Amino acid sequence: MTFRERLRALPAFARPGLPELDPGAVPPSPHELFVAWMDQAIDGGLLAPQAATLSTADAAGHVHARTLVLKDVTADGWWFASQSTGPKGRDLAANPHAAMTFFWPELGRQVKVTGSAASAGPEASRADFLARPDASRAAGLVNRQSEPLASLAEYQRAFAEALRAVSADPELAATDWTAYVLAPTEVEFWQAPDDGPHVRLLYRADAEGWTRSLTWP
Ligand SMILES: Cc1cc2nc3c(=O)[nH]c(=O)nc-3n(C[C@H](O)[C@H](O)[C@H](O)COP(=O)(O)O)c2cc1C
Repeated sequence: MTFRERLRALPAFARPGLPELDPGAVPPSPHELFVAWMDQAIDGGLLAPQAATLSTADAAGHVHARTLVLKDVTADGWWFASQSTGPKGRDLAANPHAAMTFFWPELGRQVKVTGSAASAGPEASRADFLARPDASRAAGLVNRQSEPLASLAEYQRAFAEALRAVSADPELAATDWTAYVLAPTEVEFWQAPDDGPHVRLLYRADAEGWTRSLTWP
């Protein structure tokens, strides 16, 4: 079988027992619906439901995307954290437009959150950094994410040194570590059905708050 044939032979996505998205029975804000969906994903034992694709673009419009983890959802938006000095931080400094895409295959769900991302400020960033386990703080302290690396041994040396530093000082935080908040202008919820059409529900921000509409699947 060719690679192309193997891809085509994969089973169709929809399967029995998927949850329903009833557009007439959703909360007024996408934040509430997202948290309800995430709760179902967590309770359902999904693997890493908090992982999302963060898409950014630089000033020239070149797009970059990578996986990271969601830290929180508040009235301000969807929270994530990273170094401000790496590629995604540079993209966001030049162009705050960004999107987070969640995919929960076991539930037949996708959520797209689109808007603009900004730093939540030094205090929130420091608190996020200090809440991480020592190994994650050490990795953050190394602070050279996405730079070319000559050898794994070079990283291991830098990591071991950073681990000693963070273990010795529980208050030590990387200054470039940044908590970001993606404030959405649009959030789309996508539900695959057991049978029938996909349901796409779009929340759009306007002066009054949030309006909801369906989108052709
Ligand atoms: C499941 C998963 C979770 C991740 N979580 C984060 C995260 O929360 N923050 C982060 O900076 N990188 C995280 N990464 C690493 C990023 O995908 C990426 O490699 C790194 O942030 C560099 O991205 P950039 O070069 O586009 O800036 C995660 C990767 C995976 C696969």
